[in-house]
Amino acid sequence: MRQPLLATTRRARKASKGSRLPRPAALAERIERAHALDPVIHGLSDTVVRSLPAGPRTDALHGVPFGQPAHPALVRLPLGCWTSAVLLDLFPGTERAAGVLIAAGVAGTAPAAATGLADWSALHQDQQRVGLVHAVCQTGAASLFLASLAARAGGRTTTGRALSASGLALATIGTYLGGHLALRLGAGTSHAEQISHLSGLGWHNLCELGELPDRRPVRRQLGYLSLLVYRQGTEVSVLSDRCSHLGGPLHQGRVLMERGTVCIACPWHGSTFAVADGTVVHGPATARQPSFETRVTAGGRVELRPRP
Ligand code: FES
Repeated sequence: MRQPLLATTRRARKASKGSRLPRPAALAERIERAHALDPVIHGLSDTVVRSLPAGPRTDALHGVPFGQPAHPALVRLPLGCWTSAVLLDLFPGTERAAGVLIAAGVAGTAPAAATGLADWSALHQDQQRVGLVHAVCQTGAASLFLASLAARAGGRTTTGRALSASGLALATIGTYLGGHLALRLGAGTSHAEQISHLSGLGWHNLCELGELPDRRPVRRQLGYLSLLVYRQGTEVSVLSDRCSHLGGPLHQGRVLMERGTVCIACPWHGSTFAVADGTVVHGPATARQPSFETRVTAGGRVELRPRP
């Protein structure tokens, strides 16, 4: 009678071992839950938010003019330069070229850090924990490359090479955490629904025009989709309700005028979208909010279809 029970227990242990996450992912998930980091996060996040008031400069740091976060593009310079420098170190007679690449990489950390900090200040707390450790790794890597430059300048080439290799190793750990932040935790990706995939082709009935309050955002449902609906007289504007930044409920946002356009500001981090077509007016969101074309039938029904 005992044998089957033991076999079952072994099988269960084996299965639980098999389902364990790979170590780097498990480590990143532990960082997500590392509440010990929270006091640092609160202090730093408050400082960054205070020093970056809403406006063109902050929008540029988020990447609003480019339609996607600027940080991922800017980190390519330091990472590319540093990787190339470490590879050059494997060959004789390349000390000067390696030094130039390291210096270019260190210079490239300033815009990368500025854009990263701006994005980081408008994230959820679990994302900020991972982001903080990512930033510490990248700052440590930059310091090691700076020390490598100093060693090379002082004629200690072997030490310089060792410092560069250590810097690249640390930067690789930081990059892994950056990937976890973006790809597993969704920082920087659009959180708005893909409306053209979720609603059928053609026009759909929404509701009677008279059911919609005038100049007050409301939420309506179209199948699986939550919609923000805003009526001005007989004009009806409809956006996906899930904010493209991190999924905040836009129908709970504030209506305001920006650049002569009626806009809605997300209640979570203040991303501001033109109600008429979802254009991003202010970040941190960089992706346009999906929008619908609308029409009012002769019988007073509001119909809509995804805007191409
Ligand atoms: S969820 Fe962050 S601005 Fe909307």
